[in-house]
Formats: sequence, structure tokens, C-alpha cells
Amino acid sequence: MTDRQRHGPVALVTGASSGIGQAFAADLAARGFDLVLVARDADRLGAVAVDLAARHGVRAVPLAVDLVRPDAADVIAAATAQEDIGLVVSNAGFSLKGDHAAIDPVELSAMLMVNSHARCN
Ligand SMILES: NC(=O)c1ccc[n+]([C@@H]2O[C@H](COP(=O)([O-])OP(=O)(O)OC[C@H]3O[C@@H](n4cnc5c(N)ncnc54)[C@H](OP(=O)(O)O)[C@@H]3O)[C@@H](O)[C@H]2O)c1
Repeated sequence: MTDRQRHGPVALVTGASSGIGQAFAADLAARGFDLVLVARDADRLGAVAVDLAARHGVRAVPLAVDLVRPDAADVIAAATAQEDIGLVVSNAGFSLKGDHAAIDPVELSAMLMVNSHARCN
């Protein structure tokens, strides 16, 4: 049984436009998964989707969503309602370094939204 048969035909990867998420997306495409790729930068995401689709013969759908939004999970669910998603790689995130007391509370809140809230929904 292939990974695609075990999990379902479509994998959703957040933070797929760079770094670890892009590597996950490339690996899943090589295993035959169709993809939904989530990040904010639509151009960068679109380029990754086109590249993976061309290299692996899979369908790759870019979905530009800011996971800071409290309704991000609902937005993604609505946009992917027709997709048979069997695997989710909830990878998007970032870290703020330095003295937390000196960091903008709005930025800290955004980090919690992306790194924690968005991953639990
Ligand atoms: N690299 C490491 O050594 C390391 C170590 C420990 C943990 N991690 C964790 O592993 C994950 C990936 O790390 P990485 O090094 O691959 O990071 P990265 O290269 O900076 O990639 C982060 C990805 O997340 C997306 N992203 C960031 N903020 C977002 C938001 N508000 N909404 C939607 N997408 C967002 C970025 O795209 P856009 O900017 O276009 O949105 C990008 O695709 C992160 O959660 C990081 O904290 C990394």
C-alpha cells in the first residue's frame, strides 16, 4: 500500500513556501500526493506549486491565508471543502528571539496565533 493509499490522495502543508514546509511538500509530491499549499505570500507559494506539479506530475493548489487570522482554519476548510485531504502537515510558524518583555505584544500574540492556535484548529 502506498502512502497516498494509506492516508488519502491530498496532503495539506502549511508554511509550504519555504524551509521545512517546502521540503515536506516536495517529499509528499514525490510520494504521489496531490497538495494544498498554505502560506501568506501568494507569488512565492504559486511558484512552489507550479514547480512541484511540473516535477512530480501532481496537482498542487496554492492557498494564500494568513494564519494569524482567528478564522484561518474556517477559511482553509471552506476553500478545501471539495478536497479529499488525508494528511495535514501543520508546519507554518516563526519565533521571536530576545527579551520577551521587550517584544511588541502584538507580535507575541501573532506568534501564539500561528504557532499554537492555528495548529490546534
Ligand atoms: N528551522 C529550524 O531550525 C527550526 C527549529 C525549530 C522549529 N522550527 C519550526 O519549524 C517551522 C518551519 O520553520 P522554517 O525554518 O522552515 O521556517 P521558514 O523557512 O521561515 O518558513 C516558514 C513558513 O511559514 C509561513 N508562514 C509564516 N507565518 C505565516 C502566517 N502568519 N500565515 C501563514 N503562513 C505563515 C511562511 O510563508 P509566508 O511568509 O509567505 O507566510 C513560510 O512558508 C516553524 O514553525 C519553526 O518555528 C524550525
